[in-house]
Amino acid sequence: MTLYLTQDEVKSVLDMRSTFEAVESGFREMGNDNIEMPARVYLHFEKGVLIAMPAYMPGLGAAGTKLVTVHPGNKKDYGLPAVIARIVLNSPDNGVPIAIMDGTYITALRTGAAGATGIKYLSREDSKEVGLCGLGVQGRSQVMGLMEVRPGVEKVKVYDIIPEAKAAFVKEMGEKYPKTKFVPVDSPKEAAEGSDIVITCTPSPEAFMDGAWLKKGCHVSAIGADTGAKRELMTSVIQKCDKLVVDFIPQAFVVGDFAKPKEEGVITEEDIYAELGEIVAGKKEGRTSPDEITLFKATGLAIQDVGTAHKVYILAKEGGIGTEI
Ligand SMILES: NC(=O)c1ccc[n+]([C@@H]2O[C@H](COP(=O)([O-])OP(=O)(O)OC[C@H]3O[C@@H](n4cnc5c(N)ncnc54)[C@H](O)[C@@H]3O)[C@@H](O)[C@H]2O)c1
Repeated sequence: MTLYLTQDEVKSVLDMRSTFEAVESGFREMGNDNIEMPARVYLHFEKGVLIAMPAYMPGLGAAGTKLVTVHPGNKKDYGLPAVIARIVLNSPDNGVPIAIMDGTYITALRTGAAGATGIKYLSREDSKEVGLCGLGVQGRSQVMGLMEVRPGVEKVKVYDIIPEAKAAFVKEMGEKYPKTKFVPVDSPKEAAEGSDIVITCTPSPEAFMDGAWLKKGCHVSAIGADTGAKRELMTSVIQKCDKLVVDFIPQAFVVGDFAKPKEEGVITEEDIYAELGEIVAGKKEGRTSPDEITLFKATGLAIQDVGTAHKVYILAKEGGIGTEI
């Protein structure tokens, strides 16, 4: 039997706390070299791409594959979302596909949890002010993750190139987190200056975040650039940071934020302080001084999807949610 879970059913059992626990455990397993995660496989269509992302985490008994398609024209052409994802979980014992579930909501939440893991281990514990650029799905998810690990944040300055996105975001997040002030700002510079944590989560093809704006002790969470065609951080950010941390070194140098500085001869793989998993597993220290400037560059990992889907499967079984097929 295979448990089928729709997006609404996934949403009904999964919250940010559970997602964060799953993602942090995945990073720990990775840091302990206790995962198998082959490189992603791509199929290129005329109008989009299909990506297969398999992972196995023996320590958690979780195995499976995310199949995700990205068709940027879908909304205009067919009234469909650009990103469509399903996750298939397999029993490591006998291979049986134990579950098939929507992966779109899991992708959104697990990315917020990945950013939050970086924030937990690398940002100052007394962080009060945050600058956020990009107020879409990830803007929301990154704030949910942030609040899980730094609930004492007092002010989040929010910026988007679409001005109307700011008012809607401020209203929605202000209602969800009434103790925190959400303030619209007019530039990435205003978002970054004076902030203890700076989060970028846009699909921008051009770098817009300048290292000159980062204050001492700041942590940068760079989420949006997940392909070579996207870039959020100017080279000056890479130069300003004392510790460069990534989720997975081979993927980090493919995306614009690191590919361009590498091309310019500013960084090599040797300049990476750690993969986040090594810090979560306790093999390397996270933040060691209140003044250092840290960066976490997330590119997205199959272990985050499969680990979170495994958690969803357990919660759905406990709650009798979903359809056995
Ligand atoms: N690292 C990962 O694991 C991971 C996972 C999921 C998504 N992503 C990436 O994160 C990015 C955002 O995804 P999303 O789902 O939130 O998209 P979205 O379309 O829901 O939101 C993107 C927002 O960014 C804004 N924006 C675009 N360019 C901007 C700029 N230069 N400055 C400020 N705002 C700008 C847009 O107006 C929009 O509001 C995408 O590039 C996506 O591929 C990364």
